[in-house]
Amino acid sequence: MGGLEIMPGRSSDIDVRVAGDLHALSVAAAEAMVQVIAAAAGEAGTCSLALSGGGTPRELYRLLASRFREQIPWERVHIFWGDERYVPHDHPDSNYGMARDTLLDHVPCPKANIHPMPTHVPTPEAAAGDYERTLKDHFGNDGPPFDVNLLGLGADGHTASIFPGSPALRERTRWVMSAQSNAAPVSRLTLTLPALIQSANIFVLVAGANKASALKQAVSASADVNACPAAGLRDARGRVIWFVDREAASELATSRRDDVRGE
Ligand code: 6PG
Repeated sequence: MGGLEIMPGRSSDIDVRVAGDLHALSVAAAEAMVQVIAAAAGEAGTCSLALSGGGTPRELYRLLASRFREQIPWERVHIFWGDERYVPHDHPDSNYGMARDTLLDHVPCPKANIHPMPTHVPTPEAAAGDYERTLKDHFGNDGPPFDVNLLGLGADGHTASIFPGSPALRERTRWVMSAQSNAAPVSRLTLTLPALIQSANIFVLVAGANKASALKQAVSASADVNACPAAGLRDARGRVIWFVDREAASELATSRRDDVRGE
């Protein structure tokens, strides 16, 4: 029973870590986050996280707010989002609302350090422009170099709210765009791939058999980014680690597979 299994992916720069289940992959991701945050906050005195939404990261957020809470210098952490549903923050589908309920209401991160995507602005396009200004005010014009950018993977290969065939895939300069999802809520805000790949560390959390085919595509060298937007993460400037469970990894070439300790 070794630690997390490191599976060879497309090349040495693809790092796929297979855990037994969602809890175990969330523990592994939390441990990696604590390390990055401690180094960044120690070196620069501050660090920046971009959170993702959906269901998969809930367990990670709960762990960061409990078992790992005291290992993170929350007063030095700035929190952003990689995408958002264009609904009020108190709407049950809000990514900000989910993070607030599972994490932010339980840790001493200063309110001034929490930068939700604005969904009260009259149009998603105006909101995207506002958020881009928020990011540039914080990082300057070369970023956004998040220390840890958390992302998920849809069964259709989307990541953040960059869906297959979407206009966001053709964007080369804007950091934030409005987007349309096939699944409700239809109206979204998303960072674009040129923005996402600026991160120092991208941690993609993937769980469940329904993600196996998308994961196989996302980490393959031959994937068409237009059909599988998550494959665009291969151009990341920094490190990309895929924290996946056994079910999601079921279509990946099997090699050394140790179950991670699932405590
Ligand atoms: C969102 C997410 C989205 C999510 C994937 C996976 O706003 O829904 O940012 O990109 O990560 O759709 O969602 P699940 O974790 O719910 O499977």
